[in-house]
Amino acid sequence: MTKIFLGIATAALMTAALGAQEPAQKPAPAAAAAPAGNIETGKKLWVSVGCWQCHGYEGQGGAAGPRLSARNLPFAGFSAYVRRPTNQMPPYTEKVVPNADLAHIFAYLQSRPAPPQTVPALLK
Ligand code: HEC
Repeated sequence: MTKIFLGIATAALMTAALGAQEPAQKPAPAAAAAPAGNIETGKKLWVSVGCWQCHGYEGQGGAAGPRLSARNLPFAGFSAYVRRPTNQMPPYTEKVVPNADLAHIFAYLQSRPAPPQTVPALLK
């Protein structure tokens, strides 16, 4: 009796869980969950705050930091890392970069195209 009840309860839970997952299965671009940001404002902040120094002017990455453009990072993960980086990157508190500014910076990075796959000069 208990087994049957558990079976029914499990099935009901699974149905509920699967139902709840339905909307999340649609491929949502990272920008969808991000607060609205202005690309031009973000570009200015990217320079004035100094993110470019390690990640490049276009967020293309370099010796001091990884590429951030065309990465499709979710905003939640992006902002969490900026606030509490786990490795070499310095942390940026809300005092230094308010959440609204972070949204602008994110918008700027989202707008940057993916870098070319090869260095054109090497193709000649
Ligand atoms: C002093 C160099 C430096 C500066 C300045 C810097 N970063 Fe970074 N950042 C890094 C490095 C290095 C990493 C790779 C992980 C690590 O070592 O912390 C990183 C990683 C990241 C990541 C995580 C990427 C991933 O793959 O998950 C994000 C997001 C990020 N940086 C955003 C920013 C933003 C936004 C700014 C400006 C507010 C900034 N960074 C300024 C060096 C820097």
